[in-house]
Amino acid sequence: MRTFSFFILVLIFFSCSTDKLTEKVQKHTAPQRPELSLDSKIFLGNRLFSEKTCITCHSVTRKKIGPSVVHIIKDYNKDKSAIIAFLKGKSKPIVDTTSSQVAIMQANIDGFLKKITDEELDAIATYMVHVTEKK
Ligand code: HEC
Repeated sequence: MRTFSFFILVLIFFSCSTDKLTEKVQKHTAPQRPELSLDSKIFLGNRLFSEKTCITCHSVTRKKIGPSVVHIIKDYNKDKSAIIAFLKGKSKPIVDTTSSQVAIMQANIDGFLKKITDEELDAIATYMVHVTEKK
């Protein structure tokens, strides 16, 4: 019984110390992630635009449930940070201010958009500007 408890103690000791060790190693060796290149942002933004279901309501050129990406980018004058501010719920809509329409988009902002990182929002906005460039 004694040896068994000793064994458990040793086990606990090691599991704690290895956790600490990995923490230390990660802290010291994890490189600072550089900002994504423009191409990677566009690539990631494109993927997120469909994965996060934006595409079901926003087509690039046609009005669907929501305004087209072309329409949005035109009204925002390609201002990525203003789009990001809107997606973070920090500014009011300017493209379509019909209250029923605003409520639909607001539900996204209050819901899943809360869980999207700043880097991902930046990628989405970059993609939106890029995809309209030749339209
Ligand atoms: C269920 C449908 C729906 C989904 C999904 C959706 N949107 Fe919208 N979106 C709308 C509607 C409707 C509007 C028009 C109301 C408005 O402009 O606020 C809108 C407006 C917008 C606007 C313009 C806001 C303004 O200033 O008027 C942006 C930018 C936008 N959406 C981005 C996105 C992005 C990015 C996603 C995905 C992360 C997304 N939307 C997902 C329906 C949707």
